[in-house]
Amino acid sequence: MKQTSTEIKMTHAEAIGLLKQHDQSHVLQFLERLDSAQRDGLLNQVAGLDWVTLARIRAMLKHTPSDGAAVPVSGIEPAPVVSLSADKQAEPRATGEKALGSGQVGVILVAGGQGTRLGYDGPKGTYRLAPLSNVSLFEIHARKILALERRYGAPIPFYIMTSEGNDAATRSFFDENKFFGLSRERVKFFVQGTLPAFWPDGRIVLESPGKLFAAPDGHGGILAALDRRGMLADMQARGVKTLFYFQVDNPMVAIADPVFIGVHLQHASEMSLKVCAKRDPAEGLGVVVVREGRQAVVEYTELTDAQKSARRANGDLVFKFGSVAIHLFSLSFLQREAAAGLPLHQAHKKVGFCDEAGTLVKPAKANAYKFEKFIFDALPDARTAVILEFAREDEFAPVKNAEGDDSPETSRLALMEKFARWMSSCGVLVPRDAAGRLVHRLEIDPVYANSPEELKKRLPPGFSIHADVLLK
Ligand code: UTP
Repeated sequence: MKQTSTEIKMTHAEAIGLLKQHDQSHVLQFLERLDSAQRDGLLNQVAGLDWVTLARIRAMLKHTPSDGAAVPVSGIEPAPVVSLSADKQAEPRATGEKALGSGQVGVILVAGGQGTRLGYDGPKGTYRLAPLSNVSLFEIHARKILALERRYGAPIPFYIMTSEGNDAATRSFFDENKFFGLSRERVKFFVQGTLPAFWPDGRIVLESPGKLFAAPDGHGGILAALDRRGMLADMQARGVKTLFYFQVDNPMVAIADPVFIGVHLQHASEMSLKVCAKRDPAEGLGVVVVREGRQAVVEYTELTDAQKSARRANGDLVFKFGSVAIHLFSLSFLQREAAAGLPLHQAHKKVGFCDEAGTLVKPAKANAYKFEKFIFDALPDARTAVILEFAREDEFAPVKNAEGDDSPETSRLALMEKFARWMSSCGVLVPRDAAGRLVHRLEIDPVYANSPEELKKRLPPGFSIHADVLLK
């Protein structure tokens, strides 16, 4: 669905005609009981519908198994993955650093998600995650960009995708925090699109008598949004050629890692991915494959149990490497893909709706289909693509769930363990208890040191740990 806005207008008669033509007349069934503001809101939502996409969705629903399950993929092989030992990194690092120093690198953050699993009230980026300073995910990311700008002496524009539901809160959080020291002129927010939810018979779900149910159109919605919101033009105007892409929930991400950028540029890659070995067969990461001669990412829900757990003779999983949504794109590829569009994925979900009487109902089980686009679906279109392995313990500990795996607790611990390794590499003794757990909490502000090498230069002589340590 295109963005609804007060400028989009449609008359009642036009809406009736369009909805009838597309078998969606039920959308206006409560029109008589709406006040004029509610009517305008609904008509604007209808005016913003993208009927081409809706026709695709209805065609998909016709072929959906009645249990709503994803159809497993076949004919896939594991994709080739580049692993770079430390002694092979100097050359790509130099290439990446040159690109950073010449102002040709920009950063894209997708932060439009609803964060349902975390159950936190507010944009996920405002979640206070840092182990000691208690600063937010947004602040951790922003301080890394600031550190890079200082280190390489060049601007790094920061493009942040929000969604209708969290855009205002995200902008005011940055504002209240003075953009965490970044230049406001280089931080650009843009809102992604939405898609309605559908009943199995192809009718749009009404959330309330005057409102269609609409949810963000997935991180893949970024391609259209970058274009529609003028971000691709902004990148071009600033002379940016390479874009580093990441998700809001991973505080460990090595933003604009120069080695990754160097490998990407040396291969003249259009889209590159960082991947790590999956924790176990059931981990919910998409895996990198070759399908019909093209590299691709296949979602874990599209793999059979046999595919997920198949192992080689050496014990490794056949589909060993998971994508963690850390990418690099050439600007020209983003421009091309924005015009091409991405496939849609459907998910059978619990969707609140209003019944025939106009009463709101919260279903106990999945009742309708939501649709999303995924950014990794751009991969098969890349003429050249590089997939680079990274060490999970250094760069990936997402905050997805409130408790258990991939929760704030595991993410904080992974961060502190990383800082402990950095300190150990500087010759600092890191105290641990008998069970091997850290005795003190550790945190390093990215502007103080953004790598073990930087830490080595900054740590005062004779530095030792006797209590919690916050280096900033
Ligand atoms: P997730 O798939 O983890 O979804 O998003 P989520 O919305 O954050 O959390 P759940 O599934 O509701 O618990 C991965 C990344 O993609 C962004 C998220 O903000 C996160 O950075 N995203 C997701 C978007 O920007 N837009 C979307 O429509 C979906």
